[in-house]
Amino acid sequence: MGIKDEIIGLLKDALKEEGFGTEIKFSVECPADSSHGDYSTNIAMVLWANQELGIRNHGLKTPMDLAQKLVNFIIRDSQFMIHFKKVEAVKPGFINFWISEEYLFSQLKQVLEQKEKFGSKNEDPNKKIVVEYSSPNIAKPFTVGHLRSTIIGDAVANLLQANGWKVFRDNHLGDWGTQFGKQIYAIKTWGDEKKIEDSQNPMKELVALYVKFHEEAEKNPELEEKAREWFKKLEDGDEEARRLWEKCIDWSWREFENIYGKLNVPAGEDASFENEGRGYGESFFEDKMTGVIQELKEKGLLREGEQGAKLVFFEKDKYPPLMILKQDGTTLYATRDLATDKFRLERYGKDVVVINEVGAEQSLYFKQLFEVEKMLGWFKEGQRIHIRHGLYRFKDQKMSTRKGNVIWLEDLLRLAREKANDIAMSLGTETKGNEIVVKSEKLVGQTQREITTEQIAIGALKWNDLKRSSNLDIVFDWDEILNMQGNSGPYLQYTYARTQSVIAKSRIQNSEFRISLARPRLARLEVEEVSLLRALNRFSEVVEEAGEKFAPNILCNYLFNLAQKFNLFYQKCKIISSENQDFRLELTQTVGQTLKNGLNLLGISAPERM
Ligand code: ARG
Repeated sequence: MGIKDEIIGLLKDALKEEGFGTEIKFSVECPADSSHGDYSTNIAMVLWANQELGIRNHGLKTPMDLAQKLVNFIIRDSQFMIHFKKVEAVKPGFINFWISEEYLFSQLKQVLEQKEKFGSKNEDPNKKIVVEYSSPNIAKPFTVGHLRSTIIGDAVANLLQANGWKVFRDNHLGDWGTQFGKQIYAIKTWGDEKKIEDSQNPMKELVALYVKFHEEAEKNPELEEKAREWFKKLEDGDEEARRLWEKCIDWSWREFENIYGKLNVPAGEDASFENEGRGYGESFFEDKMTGVIQELKEKGLLREGEQGAKLVFFEKDKYPPLMILKQDGTTLYATRDLATDKFRLERYGKDVVVINEVGAEQSLYFKQLFEVEKMLGWFKEGQRIHIRHGLYRFKDQKMSTRKGNVIWLEDLLRLAREKANDIAMSLGTETKGNEIVVKSEKLVGQTQREITTEQIAIGALKWNDLKRSSNLDIVFDWDEILNMQGNSGPYLQYTYARTQSVIAKSRIQNSEFRISLARPRLARLEVEEVSLLRALNRFSEVVEEAGEKFAPNILCNYLFNLAQKFNLFYQKCKIISSENQDFRLELTQTVGQTLKNGLNLLGISAPERM
């Protein structure tokens, strides 16, 4: 149990003791200004404002009196007070808590003992959650939207896992639908299977064919009809249609595996995604849709539209109706999503929470979907969640596959690598004033450098995505992404590498770290040291909050702050051969471990040296 939980627990005891009931909603925050303590609560103010409780009849005159009464209760608990230096009521009625030196030190020990587990809870088998992310489409490029979904979804899944959830990662591949009619027609008409097969990047060939189809169809609308025929054949199990569709899947997965490998998101043979590492794509639900349609009918939710299509209408028309069956009886994206969620309830249990990490442009669609699922009585409030991400903007153009103005992820990653290479080439470990000055240093060797470069490139891209609230748009700016002095992936990785280089220099093997060293008295510590200790204490809480709010950016903020604090400490305090050497090394190691754990939760690797 973290210290914040201890505070909450004791405050609830106080509420009970005073006869106020424990249902009162109050907050325990970490004040931005540390002169207000490590934690602060508004509980007395909340109680005071709550007329019904009749607190004012208790003979108290102000919220401050009430705060003081609660403080008296708290400080009587000697067991609790072991962890605190001071608990104080302040005007107009806040209660502030200062953590004791002993407790802050004991945290260091915990980090060094728990190592990579620090910040993670044990799995609670009753907390099940599906995190669906990435979800690219077969025979279409893996767009930057899918990249965002992959990066954010993966981080969210990691955070939830650290919070004790049993996480099922799913990838809702777009591998079914009328566009396969177009694709198959295009391959048969203009394509060369052998050429696609032998291509370095079959996906590029497929996209070129898809673009061609749309160009031709503009001149000759009959092609749309041909495409529909091929899709019908595919649905009816026609051998040739099936064969080409399966080929498209294989060709596409060559690209996806490559991408997931680079992004360090386990997929395919390395599993991680459900269904042997590939996720349950839309086609998996082909034969599971009739059950849903049946259920919609039985529950009286399916109505016929003007042209004979079948739709679900919403109360007071709060959303546009959602189409379930087209007029020719074919199914849609929504039909497959319903089948998917029905399947999830059956497979993971009726209490499973289901998250879709999908671009903000599908927000209305997900509102409709969730509403239908509510009407069906499938999910309770809070069980369905859409995490939406904003767009990437490259000089103001949104990308569309159809017209072919696609930015290939591969090119993006190559660019990132090239830029990161400049950094990796010139890195050293010098600091001047407030900034890290990059000095050249001979690097460990070609292979190591390539690995590091790749890690910096991917780390930079991921951090850039994760550091802000996911629903915001991102304007792509390489200078910002790779800025070693700013809020960037490389800055974080560099700070971690710096902790490791200090440790290496001290020639103390991690394993030989003596944990129970004589503690220097806090009074003798520099402010930078105390502020690091306080920050370290918060890591687990931050992981918890970031997970609860599905917001990796909360963890990013924290880590950036911690890294800045560490760099200040590094500049101000001599570590090796100082009077406080043991403690400072321990502190350095603890910061390193925390940064590494944090970065790993975000899916970012932490190279030992840069
Ligand atoms: N394949 C879709 C696309 O690229 C995203 C799928 C999102 N997930 C879902 N359950 N609908 O737009």
